[in-house]
Amino acid sequence: MGTNCNGEYFVVQAKENGVQVIGLTRGQDTRFHHSEKLDKGEVMIAQFTEHTSAIKIRGKAKILTSHGEIDAANE
Ligand code: TRP
Repeated sequence: MGTNCNGEYFVVQAKENGVQVIGLTRGQDTRFHHSEKLDKGEVMIAQFTEHTSAIKIRGKAKILTSHGEIDAANE
């Protein structure tokens, strides 16, 4: 596959301290490979890549993707 620079981007903005953005591996086994902690107001802009096929977000956050916007703060 090679390095994929064309993966979709997503944006996460933390609405509280300690929001976690967890990357899950692509391929046969699905496991956590990276966990990033964001404090309130911090923004992470990242892509889906050859290493990352799914993302799990813990905590209150605004999430923007090409599929729309989710306000996970209001659940
Ligand atoms: N090294 C990871 C990768 O290339 C970095 C990364 C990209 C990442 N997107 C992510 C980590 C989303 C956590 C969440 O796949």
